Amino acid sequence: MALVYFERQSKTVSANAGNNLRLLAKKNGVQIYHGIDKLLNCRGNGLCGTCMVEVFPAKPEFVSPPTAMEEKKLKNYNNPNLRLACQVKVHGPMRVKTYPVELYASSTTSAPPVTL
Ligand code: FES
Repeated sequence: MALVYFERQSKTVSANAGNNLRLLAKKNGVQIYHGIDKLLNCRGNGLCGTCMVEVFPAKPEFVSPPTAMEEKKLKNYNNPNLRLACQVKVHGPMRVKTYPVELYASSTTSAPPVTL
């Protein structure tokens, strides 16, 4: 078991090794998406990029390596902590920052966030 701390929500949840980060957040009532992305997302298939989070594992091995989908979607960002929550597997304690607004603002590939 590992503890995952969602920084923006000030919420700590328990995860089993190999848990998917997106599903873990969803199961525990932590919103990964912002605005209309809550409805218009790819449901965890690594296609839309709307589940971007920053992940800070206590040790590098506590998080799965980036998938090919992540490498493709996140290649224009200069942030090694940026991940797609739907592609991340939890293997140990970590801190997670959902909806990194500043990254949307600096991106040339993502539309600015929409607020409902
Ligand atoms: S939910 Fe679409 S990329 Fe993660």
